[in-house]
Amino acid sequence: MAAALLEQGEDAFRRLFKYYKRRQPPPDLSGIVDFSRAQQYCKVLIAPLNVTSISDQDACKAGLQPVCKWKAYSLDGYPGFMFILDPFLPGWQCYWAKQCLKIYPRKPNVCNLDLHMSPEETKDLWEQSREQLRLKTPGKREAKSLLEKLRWVTLGYHYNWETKKYSPDHYTAFPMDLAYLSEQVAAACGFQQFKAEAGILNYYRFDSSLGIHVDESEMDYSKPLLSFSFGQSAVFLLGGLKRQDPPLPMFIHSGDIIIMSGKSRLFYHAVPRIVPNLEGRAIPSCLEHTTTRYNCSADTSYRQRDEGDWEICAKYLQSSRVNMTVRQVVGVGQSFPVTSDTEMITDSQPYSYHQDPKEENEHKRQKLEAAAKSP
Ligand code: OGA
Ligand code: MN
Repeated sequence: MAAALLEQGEDAFRRLFKYYKRRQPPPDLSGIVDFSRAQQYCKVLIAPLNVTSISDQDACKAGLQPVCKWKAYSLDGYPGFMFILDPFLPGWQCYWAKQCLKIYPRKPNVCNLDLHMSPEETKDLWEQSREQLRLKTPGKREAKSLLEKLRWVTLGYHYNWETKKYSPDHYTAFPMDLAYLSEQVAAACGFQQFKAEAGILNYYRFDSSLGIHVDESEMDYSKPLLSFSFGQSAVFLLGGLKRQDPPLPMFIHSGDIIIMSGKSRLFYHAVPRIVPNLEGRAIPSCLEHTTTRYNCSADTSYRQRDEGDWEICAKYLQSSRVNMTVRQVVGVGQSFPVTSDTEMITDSQPYSYHQDPKEENEHKRQKLEAAAKSP
């Protein structure tokens, strides 16, 4: 009986994931929570922000509006989950999108293409793709550029997808601009000491999805997980601590920021579907390139190059979504456990998503309790 119930429950997330992922017939998107629309959802609450934690000047340096202007929400029943509606200043979303496409995939950062291509072949995805992308006719079947084959990039402590761990032996400098942005956002949400140590960037096309998972490889769950999205929209499913908790579907649009902290830091979530932006434009208007940021630059060749770069970004983003997730891996006073390679592999078993849900839950409860007790 219990097993049957569990199986039924387990289906709740999977069923909804499959429903939103399916192509024919397409799913009904009308009941999905949309924080950008002045609709009434009983679960949506206004979230308080720490308006004095960052100055307007510091916010501006990160490309953000003054915190007092941000619209932040939380959800009843999802403690620690926060949704900030696009707080970016005009012209800044395209800055971050361009970093994700042109700069962050560069070495020494790691990407999915490195798994089966030589460093020489993946030296500069941007340069290797730009002409091909520029000349592409939308809707026509043509060979994919490397940039269109890009699925993920890791930054800082590079996440190991096999062992599901970070290692002190595989760290490269975390991008300073993204660290600054993350630390400002974290501070505004009440996390003054947050350190951006690892990043996973996800690159989605219209047919991509991200499976049901929990981000539990970091060592300090008292630190939030930040997620920034640009380009086309997504359907995001937010479940609970247990795999069988039915998830709440919500839209994420370009510029929106999600913070997972507290209890929801370990909640199951997934992205079953990428959807065209709801304005029905090729590129959402908040993401449009504005030259105001660069008008002060007398360097016309720089401005021309920037315009050219934006043409490529815009072409890519017409059918894509880019998501940057930023994590603190090590808590204050924590250090990486000393493990041999073989230990690391066996050790990774209890963290796998396919284990007994009861045991998994107990494991998570203990970890959250430990996080709450830490300074
Ligand atoms: C992740 C993640 C969600 C998204 O990278 O862990 O959950 O919105 N991303 O793409
Ligand atoms: Mn995640």
